[in-house]
Amino acid sequence: MKVRNCRPINLKFINDGVDGNLVVAEGSRNIPFDIKRVYFINNLSNKEAIRGKHAHKKLKQVLFCINGSFVLTLEDSENKEEVLMSKSHTGVYMGPGVWHTMSAFSPNCVILVFASDHYGKSDYIRDYPKFRMFAKGGQR
Ligand code: TYD
Repeated sequence: MKVRNCRPINLKFINDGVDGNLVVAEGSRNIPFDIKRVYFINNLSNKEAIRGKHAHKKLKQVLFCINGSFVLTLEDSENKEEVLMSKSHTGVYMGPGVWHTMSAFSPNCVILVFASDHYGKSDYIRDYPKFRMFAKGGQR
């Protein structure tokens, strides 16, 4: 991936044939940090919905789309890319300093996120010009 501090993450995927699939995430193994928080986002039936629109100062996260699909847009100080999230066992690791938005949700979309820390309002950068300054400063 061309955006700094971002990379794909593949989870262990066990295909049990007619009995379904099993997908496994483990902290400090296929998720590259100790997981302190898990949250999910659903009820995304509004096609116009846009989530995210922020970066984090320190938080590391891995996002998965475990049902349906959406588009994850990632941006650092130099590059921007769009990732179609549609495979339940392939997610995206997003380190600090990445401006991200989530959009184009399918009606049945469910997003699952693992985070390296508890919720903290002060870790958010919600102002785009401030994000640009933070990202250009090379702070990760
Ligand atoms: P936000 O992180 O902006 O959601 P998204 O990136 O999916 O658009 O959070 C939306 C609101 O929920 C905001 O008021 C903060 C609150 N929130 C918590 O209280 N705890 C959490 O763990 C998260 C992720 C959000």
